[in-house]
Amino acid sequence: MKPFPRLLRAFGRYRGRAFLALLAMVVVSISTVAMLFLLAKVIDDALGAGAAARLSGFGGAGAGRATLLRWLDAFYATARLTAESHGIPVRFAVPLLLLLALVSKNVFSYISEFELNGIGVAMVRDLRREAYDRLLRQSTRFYSESSTGDLMSRMLSDVEQIQTAFGHQLTDLVQGALTLILLLLYVFSMNARLALIIFLLAPVILLPIVSNTRRLGKAATAARERIGHLGAILSETLRGHRVIKTYAMEDFEARRFEEANNDYFRVNRKTVRIQARNAPFMEILAGIGLSALFVYAASEIHAHRMEVGELFSFLAALMMMYKPVKDVTRINMAIQLALSSARRVFELVDRVSEIQEKPDARHLAPFSDAIAYENVSFRYEDQPVLLDVDLTIRRGETVAIVGPSGAGKTSLVNLLPRLYDATAGRITFDGVDIKDATLRSLRDQIGLVTQDTVLFDASVRSNIAYGQSSPPEEKLRAAAHAAYADEFIDRLPEGYDSFVGENAGRLSGGQKQRLAIARAIYKDAPILILDEATSQLDTESEALVARALMNLMKGRTTLVIAHRLSTVRRADRILVFDRARLVESGTHSELLARPGVYHRLHAMQYFTETEAAESAPVPGPR
Ligand code: GTP
Ligand code: MG
Repeated sequence: MKPFPRLLRAFGRYRGRAFLALLAMVVVSISTVAMLFLLAKVIDDALGAGAAARLSGFGGAGAGRATLLRWLDAFYATARLTAESHGIPVRFAVPLLLLLALVSKNVFSYISEFELNGIGVAMVRDLRREAYDRLLRQSTRFYSESSTGDLMSRMLSDVEQIQTAFGHQLTDLVQGALTLILLLLYVFSMNARLALIIFLLAPVILLPIVSNTRRLGKAATAARERIGHLGAILSETLRGHRVIKTYAMEDFEARRFEEANNDYFRVNRKTVRIQARNAPFMEILAGIGLSALFVYAASEIHAHRMEVGELFSFLAALMMMYKPVKDVTRINMAIQLALSSARRVFELVDRVSEIQEKPDARHLAPFSDAIAYENVSFRYEDQPVLLDVDLTIRRGETVAIVGPSGAGKTSLVNLLPRLYDATAGRITFDGVDIKDATLRSLRDQIGLVTQDTVLFDASVRSNIAYGQSSPPEEKLRAAAHAAYADEFIDRLPEGYDSFVGENAGRLSGGQKQRLAIARAIYKDAPILILDEATSQLDTESEALVARALMNLMKGRTTLVIAHRLSTVRRADRILVFDRARLVESGTHSELLARPGVYHRLHAMQYFTETEAAESAPVPGPR
């Protein structure tokens, strides 16, 4: 579905409010014209500038007058008579009526603004919710292939763009059009000849404005691009400040920023020039038109075809017409922008995750027997990452997965919680193909500690008990204790309520890992996937993390991508991967005894952790 009808449909959800807004707008337009009409009356009747204070409207004659003016006349006459019968003199009654029209215009314009903008805001809330919902359910592949900046701008500024278009711009458009129609009726019914002359001359004034607005719009788009570029440099600097410092690249980055900043400056100066030119240019043109109008009007007034007040009213109407006409280009541009934004947002909303749950998916019972990979192959793009992998993991087993970097270890374990689906073959969980199970019942049974620790900018408590609003204190502390995390948590200023900062910037590498382990212990899933970090920790943290991991693995079925000698030694079985294939399997001593990949890895000191780490002192027995 095209973005425009789709936005309209979303808008249609609020048609009650929209109808109310439209009614209010009609009242605003009528009040505007009434104001103009009364302006003439104030001058001619109340101030007495007119030739005679007549009861009838403009141009004297009653017959052949346009309907609009006849209505206004009738209304005015009634109002004046009522006032006079109450003893209110004309010089009070007419200004009072003018004030009434003004108040009515503004009250109803408040209602229409509020209602329509309210719809814009509500639409944006709906859309953002929908887009975020979709985003959350996207596959891992989607995330690894999309740029964070792009997704952020779709979720934030693109959605915002739609709000502006469907709030402010739509109000201006509809209100402008309604008022314009009524104003046109008004000026033509007042003095058709004068109106006609002006409208024939109008393009002379309007064309330069239109072209100027268009140029301004282009400059604004260019400015948006430039500011985006500035933002990109800025965010890189904020994220990479350590690298910048250690490479002494401050001057280089400063130059890069300076260039982008100057670029932005040039575009901005152009905008400023166009804007500065606009007003004087307009004023000169308007002045020429006005002088000509006065010359003509003087003869009309002289011939008693027009009153002074009418001339003012006419002029005021012309001025009011200027705004909606001028706005057309701006609104058009905003709507074009909003449509292209909408396209980008809908792209996100419509994206179907490649990991799908079958409609008749079954609930998996707690893990009891075995997980089996049957002839599993996998690829991200063209290159095979896993080829014909066959393996079985029995309940309670600890299986270590080793192999050179890029062998496919992380990819192998990612298939189990269905972060990706195998390209060929299948994976069974107690004999059930995982594609036939509900994602929830599968993922609930798997604890995951990833290669790079992921913590949220929240308290220690909510990081450990992720997803639980009021976790039982005992369970929380037990998890932290088993993960050797309590020793540093207790030393934090606010203990379990301390915030860890973005990317847990307030914690050391080893502390972050232990917190992530505490989270996995807390989840207490029967199956554990562990992607051991290769990061070099100091001996003491290394020992703490190793022990925390041992506690975590206790009593669980574990798939551990091992970089530590102690882990592989303790594993029941070691699976060796090399270039997408499972090449060897066995225990540490079995594998060492024969020449092969494992033997080579061991000889190359692929495994970290020295004996010193193994026996390093750790606080208290557990
Ligand atoms: P280490 O973590 O370095 O020990 O390697 P690994 O054995 O865990 O390798 P992994 O399974 O992460 O990657 C296997 C191959 O897949 C490598 O050649 C990667 O370049 C490739 N790969 C990994 N992730 C992605 C991805 O998200 N997209 C694409 N296109 N390729 C990927
Ligand atoms: Mg890996």
